[in-house]
Amino acid sequence: MLEEKGKTLTTAQGAPVGDNQNSLSAGNLGPVLIQDVHLLEKLAHFNRERVPERVVHAKGFGAHGYFKVTNDVSRYTKADFLSEVGKETPMFARFSTVAGEAGSADTLRDPRGFALKFYTDEGNFDMVGNNTPVFFIRDAIKFPDFIHTQKRDPKTHRKNADAVWDFWSLSPESLHQVTVLMSDRGIPATFRNMHGYGSHTYMWVNENNEQFWIKYHFRTNQGIKNLSAELAEQLAGENPDCHGQDLYNAIEAGDFPSWTLSVQVIPFEEGLNYKTNIFDVTRTVSQKDYPLIEVGQMVLNRNPENYFAEVEQATFSPGNFVPGIQASPDKLLQGRLFGYGDAHRHRVGTNSAILPINSPKSGANTYQRDGAMRSDSNGGSSVYYEPNSFNGPKEEPAAKQVGHEITGQIGNYSYDDDFYSQPGDLYRLLPVDEQQNLVDNIVANMSGVTQEAIKIRQLKHFYKADPSYGERIAKGLGIDIEKIKE
Ligand code: HEM
Repeated sequence: MLEEKGKTLTTAQGAPVGDNQNSLSAGNLGPVLIQDVHLLEKLAHFNRERVPERVVHAKGFGAHGYFKVTNDVSRYTKADFLSEVGKETPMFARFSTVAGEAGSADTLRDPRGFALKFYTDEGNFDMVGNNTPVFFIRDAIKFPDFIHTQKRDPKTHRKNADAVWDFWSLSPESLHQVTVLMSDRGIPATFRNMHGYGSHTYMWVNENNEQFWIKYHFRTNQGIKNLSAELAEQLAGENPDCHGQDLYNAIEAGDFPSWTLSVQVIPFEEGLNYKTNIFDVTRTVSQKDYPLIEVGQMVLNRNPENYFAEVEQATFSPGNFVPGIQASPDKLLQGRLFGYGDAHRHRVGTNSAILPINSPKSGANTYQRDGAMRSDSNGGSSVYYEPNSFNGPKEEPAAKQVGHEITGQIGNYSYDDDFYSQPGDLYRLLPVDEQQNLVDNIVANMSGVTQEAIKIRQLKHFYKADPSYGERIAKGLGIDIEKIKE
């Protein structure tokens, strides 16, 4: 807002600034003086305005909102924020692409991040998911290699189709996610027109400590809409921030986007004996076997006031659980439980949790002290160790994680290797026009691959999922179909 007479400009130390247009110099033509400490402070602070961008999901936009419970799920979880119909919890969401840098286009073919922070009365619960129900790999040990192939080639500093398809063709567990990514859903029309998924199986625990396996589905109430590859390319040039703009404008106009959260609930023992491994994040669990159970509505109704403070400094972690929600043994998830906190300590700092966007609205009582940028009272003069005789915060046994028995010999195990059934089913399920788009998108994408051996290796996977899937792509790439049959 324009003001007639504003406040006095000060240095960061609060002293009034005499001149913010002309630096201090020795006479009109003389050199600039080092005693212009305001100039030094201004240039030095400017040099430090950036924190490292997220190593993945660097480009994103966020919004505030709330979650409201619409269905009683208290028989499955003791999570306080889900405890009664009508209960509302404030939340913050960030949507993103994965591979591009912070300035990249919103309309690239890439999964979309779907990161949510619920400020519950028992601490923060984060749901850090994507707009796809599955993922490319299923063991965290492969994540750095996978992401290297999605980023820039060290020599050319350009994206490298050989690396992308070499890795995928040597990691056939990626086939399901590659099929989703190359389908029409690979480029959502807006952030508002996509679903969100927890992707992994998680665990819920109820008041009686009964355990259930859970899969989260956030279904868009705006309906699914996607972009054709052509329109996406055009928008990438014309308006690379179009998805951020769309989200911002909708919220400013009072057209608040919302999603319905439903869960698949899989009883503990059944989950362990299910026909596919429910801890393998490259697989889905059939909704015929475990139908969606509604939980509530998420509504985004407020734009951030300041992008850096609220979006760039936001830190989400799949390890931010509250009592009643726990991890499953999914090996990719287990790696993520380490990865995010570590990324936050590096990217934002060891005290990132005390920043307003990240701090729990229910308060935090820890014995953590000191560290860079400790901007709260640092515990003041209160007791700084535990156990203590001075009435400091104590553990709450009811909040203990509920365990289950694990047996087995230590070793490097791989989940089973049926890489083809679910991608094949997905291909066969698509309407004819969407099947054609899928094939066309893959052909366009693989055309950048220079090594025929890589193309053939990947085509064999498509062929195994469904012979027509492989044959149509091979035809599009001009590869002899006989070469892809084994
Ligand atoms: C961001 C690691 C798999 C969704 C990140 C970040 C890291 C990371 C280091 C940046 C965090 C930051 O700087 O704040 C990993 C690892 C994975 C993995 C090691 C596998 C082992 C996944 C999967 C999903 C996912 C399977 C979704 C189902 C996201 C989202 C963000 C993100 C949504 C952005 C969060 C935000 O908006 O700040 N990931 N990731 N990641 N990841 Fe993952």
